[in-house]
Amino acid sequence: MKENHLERLMRRFPAISDLRERAGRRIPHVAWEYLESGCGDETAVARNLEKMSAVTLVPRFLKGELVPDVSTSLFGQTYQAPFGVAPMGLTGLIWPRSELILARTVAKYSIPYCLSTVATQTPETVGPLVGDMGWFQLYPPRDPKTRDDLLKRAWDSGFKTMVVTADVPVGSRRERSTRAGFGRPERFTLRNVYEAMKHPTWTINTLRIGFPKLRTLEKYTNSTSTATVIKYVSRSLGGTLSWDYLKEVREAWEGPLVLKGIVHPEDAELAVQTGVDGIYVSNHGARQLNAVPAAIESLPEIVRRVKGRAGIIFDSGVRSGLDVVRAIALGADIVLLGRAFLYGVAALGDHGGDHVVEILLADMKNVMVQLGCASLQELRELARG
Ligand code: FNR
Repeated sequence: MKENHLERLMRRFPAISDLRERAGRRIPHVAWEYLESGCGDETAVARNLEKMSAVTLVPRFLKGELVPDVSTSLFGQTYQAPFGVAPMGLTGLIWPRSELILARTVAKYSIPYCLSTVATQTPETVGPLVGDMGWFQLYPPRDPKTRDDLLKRAWDSGFKTMVVTADVPVGSRRERSTRAGFGRPERFTLRNVYEAMKHPTWTINTLRIGFPKLRTLEKYTNSTSTATVIKYVSRSLGGTLSWDYLKEVREAWEGPLVLKGIVHPEDAELAVQTGVDGIYVSNHGARQLNAVPAAIESLPEIVRRVKGRAGIIFDSGVRSGLDVVRAIALGADIVLLGRAFLYGVAALGDHGGDHVVEILLADMKNVMVQLGCASLQELRELARG
């Protein structure tokens, strides 16, 4: 039988780490450093990965033939797999039009996609592509009028789950990105010319569609200049979130509301009391605070506190289907991945999102059979022992 395209990809790139390796070669240095970076010496990035891989699961055998069912539902919506795409900003710098590539992937596989406030495509463009799979991430604007307008735009574009990011009280110091020149005005330097020539596919695509911009926010700055919009982001978004502010968002938003970046059980409790529907356990992929615990370490206690009263979403340090299984077994309802999806798109362009999903599905299903679990519920029971 002839091998199809996805089977060929699976043979060449059977793991996310293969895509990461290829992505690193295909995109300019500054884009790579922006994608990878954490803070300081990045021990928290390493900790996310180490503590994830330290989670062990004890298999049970003699279950006969198992056909794992990985479908799930959250907030009344069914998903064909319990994982999806985490919100990421300036995504078009990593790969031109990556939001559109990922939007098509999530619609094809019926998995969630969270569009960032600072993505390089607008909710109006992405909403129709993702259908019922769309979540929107809000960096809370200081100006309530801007906030309400963003909420309305997201809702009208079809995004029914709102994710408010809590863990950026201020922009973080990502020294590695800074060193690479991230945030400096685009300049015509020898280094930039060298980088452009070294990564011709990225460069040709970028030249074809133009340098990435934070399009969703252009409306509020009356400017299409990236530098102006980035200044607006640091001045006007964030640094403002409080329990009262969250209550206002709760009152303004009809659909499910999720609070992202929670690592303290008491914050999870207060969020539930404020009326959120979902707690999103995450340390922002260790991009904010280098002293933060690994997100997977924070998960069990938060699950213990709020499970049954709120949905549990998890991210940070997920790099395989096995990692998705680990987080589900520890109580997550949905697991999102940030860097992994962009490794895929940067490595394989239009096929990248699909291929990441194929890797995760194949890995998850295999692991579930190894463990003797036919459903996500059985995974949770297995971990409880
Ligand atoms: C992010 N993250 C993020 N989070 C958020 O709430 N809004 C945003 O705009 C962004 N932007 C962003 C850009 C890039 C390039 C990355 C890698 C991450 C954090 C993201 O949603 C998620 O929490 C982490 O990526 C999860 O960690 P892993 O999967 O990358 O290890």
